[in-house]
Amino acid sequence: MTERIRLLIVDDSTDTREHLTRLLGFEADLQVVGWAASGEQALELVERLPVDVILLDVNMPGLGGMATAEQLAARAPAAAVVMMSVQNESSYLRSAMRAGAREFLVKPFSSEELVTAVRQAYERGRELLEIVAGRSGAPSANAGQNAGATPARRSGQVVSLFAPKGGVGRTTLAVNLAVAAAALGQRVALVDASLQFGDVGVLLNLDPRSRSVVEVVRELGEEDAEAAEKMLVEHRSGVHVLLAPPSPELAETVGSEQLAGIVASLRAAFDLVVVDAPVSLTDTTLALLDGSDVILCLLTLEITSIKNARHFLNLAERLGYPPTKVQLLLNRADAGYGIRLAELESSLGRKVSHTVVSDGRTVVSALNKGEPFAMAERRSRVGRDVARLARALVEGTSAESAAPAREPARRAFAWRAR
Ligand SMILES: Nc1ncnc2c1ncn2[C@@H]1O[C@H](COP(=O)(O)OP(=O)(O)OP(=O)(O)O)[C@@H](O)[C@H]1O
Ligand SMILES: [Mg+2]
Repeated sequence: MTERIRLLIVDDSTDTREHLTRLLGFEADLQVVGWAASGEQALELVERLPVDVILLDVNMPGLGGMATAEQLAARAPAAAVVMMSVQNESSYLRSAMRAGAREFLVKPFSSEELVTAVRQAYERGRELLEIVAGRSGAPSANAGQNAGATPARRSGQVVSLFAPKGGVGRTTLAVNLAVAAAALGQRVALVDASLQFGDVGVLLNLDPRSRSVVEVVRELGEEDAEAAEKMLVEHRSGVHVLLAPPSPELAETVGSEQLAGIVASLRAAFDLVVVDAPVSLTDTTLALLDGSDVILCLLTLEITSIKNARHFLNLAERLGYPPTKVQLLLNRADAGYGIRLAELESSLGRKVSHTVVSDGRTVVSALNKGEPFAMAERRSRVGRDVARLARALVEGTSAESAAPAREPARRAFAWRAR
């Protein structure tokens, strides 16, 4: 018999719980394994029951559906949430998706809509976990356990800079981190994976006619990703660069597997491969993040940046990345304007592993000259911060501080950051 999808029904109305159980009972591939009359009860039950899909009512007394969904993401990361509500407003749908729901059902719904939503939520969850785990098979309740494991054959390490919000300094720090690591004597490759609007070439003042990833992919055969290392453009800092396509429409000529394969192959030739990863969580981004040893999750002391970082941390956990793989990198750390570092850490329940100060004069003049500040202005505060970041990564001393704070987070201003 094929594997059955195990369901938990969470609704404060006994009638609804019974009705849903009856409807689901007609489907051979679905099995209701538990019922909860409140969000609190659901959170307790998922600790004990193996559950694949949770049907969750939005309007419940006590802990409401949205808050329950957010907490379920941490407690039962492999379970998919299907939210049920009488409200059909787009703001509700968006909130539900932000809280981690995969499907949204508006009451009253037909039995067909119900079972379709359950199956889709389950399948989508499996697909996402399989993309990230880079393997096929049935992850079910144990999904993602190996998703963050370091790939077996390796020499150099892959460090991706990922920001769940654009414009926070990802390219600036990726470029200068690469240059600072090269100054430490490391062999460094820098990959501009922002395929549509990559800025790495501009920050390094490289000839726009230089070979980009488009030509590298075209010229490489199916089997010889290893040859990619010889096709990178060398910058005078010693950093070898894989440039983004020269125009946005060419981005689609580069497949996610191809790019991830090239990055993996660069481990053999370089001590450090720095990836400027795209903002959006596409297959390409997930493939790159999965293949990374360290993900530097970049954020600033702004409420929107913090909110998105929280969502990314939740997702990373659901994808099975070990906490030490994701390290928080706070840019412009002294420009809080009302939010302090301690509040940020308390809100996210995580320590910030690295900080870089705000220094517009140095950063922007380096940008405009096409000369990384890690070369010309390495004694500036921002230059020293990036050098410290490079040293921590090269020496592998940053992983420890990436572990979650031991005390559960006091959500000091969580209500604002949601
Ligand atoms: N530490 C810093 N101090 C002052 N300015 C900074 C700092 N880091 C980055 N900036 C400035 O912030 C702006 C955005 O930086 P950058 O282009 O690197 O961000 P990004 O996250 O790569 O953006 P995008 O999402 O568009 O790719 C630039 O003007 C840059 O000079
Ligand atoms: Mg950028």
